[in-house]
Amino acid sequence: MGAVVRAPPRGNGREEMDVESPGCGRTVGRMEVTLIAAQSLDGFITRHDEPGTAFTSAADKTHFAATLARFDASVMGGETYRVARSVIRSRLTAARRRLVLTRNPGAYAGDAVPGQLEFTSASPLELVRQLASQGHRRCALLGGAQVHRLFLAAGCVDFLELSVEPRIFGSGVPLVGGRLDLHLTLERHERIAQSDTLLLTYRVAPKAPAG
Ligand SMILES: NC(=O)c1ccc[n+]([C@@H]2O[C@H](COP(=O)([O-])OP(=O)(O)OC[C@H]3O[C@@H](n4cnc5c(N)ncnc54)[C@H](OP(=O)(O)O)[C@@H]3O)[C@@H](O)[C@H]2O)c1
Repeated sequence: MGAVVRAPPRGNGREEMDVESPGCGRTVGRMEVTLIAAQSLDGFITRHDEPGTAFTSAADKTHFAATLARFDASVMGGETYRVARSVIRSRLTAARRRLVLTRNPGAYAGDAVPGQLEFTSASPLELVRQLASQGHRRCALLGGAQVHRLFLAAGCVDFLELSVEPRIFGSGVPLVGGRLDLHLTLERHERIAQSDTLLLTYRVAPKAPAG
């Protein structure tokens, strides 16, 4: 293992590619949305009913921190925020704007830090359009299952970057919280050095024309 196939350039390179993205990206210009998640081999993003990502390997935690530095915006669901609230609030920076999707943004007025941590009930398309129009170019979609489904169903995800941990849980929160049938193209596969964690990058295929 360790071979890399059809590797797109990482970092700025991919951003500079003059291509239109599927779904939301096609409509709003060139902001890319990348779903980033760590999962067990059998597709769960939590271990059983334990909230959070304590199950991920040290190698992936290091990789995830480095990966986030590529993004100027990120979006997560209200539940993911509530689970990781204190860590998120302790690590805010102006370099990456965090948006939390909630049906009740007003309830979080005390947590909001304009430009760094904001709460919204906008739809995926509205959110992506808004971020793109405000100059953001790379948005990380950081879970959880409900929000993954919402964005994937709306055609608002360009890439998936999955860390597959060598674990089998049999139960937990799934990667996607609801029925979908999407086609993906494998862009890259590699192993995190000196670990058994696999990194898979997929591009979401453009939606087939209706009819
Ligand atoms: N392994 C990983 O990589 C990874 C990554 C992320 C999260 N996780 C884990 O996944 C779990 C959370 O996943 P989840 O699926 O339960 O929750 P989630 O997707 O993080 O958040 C769900 C919440 O998002 C908000 N929401 C959903 N649809 C909405 C809509 N249409 N409009 C506005 N707001 C909407 C609601 O927040 P309100 O209730 O505030 O209205 C809802 O309760 C946590 O345990 C977390 O630690 C794992």
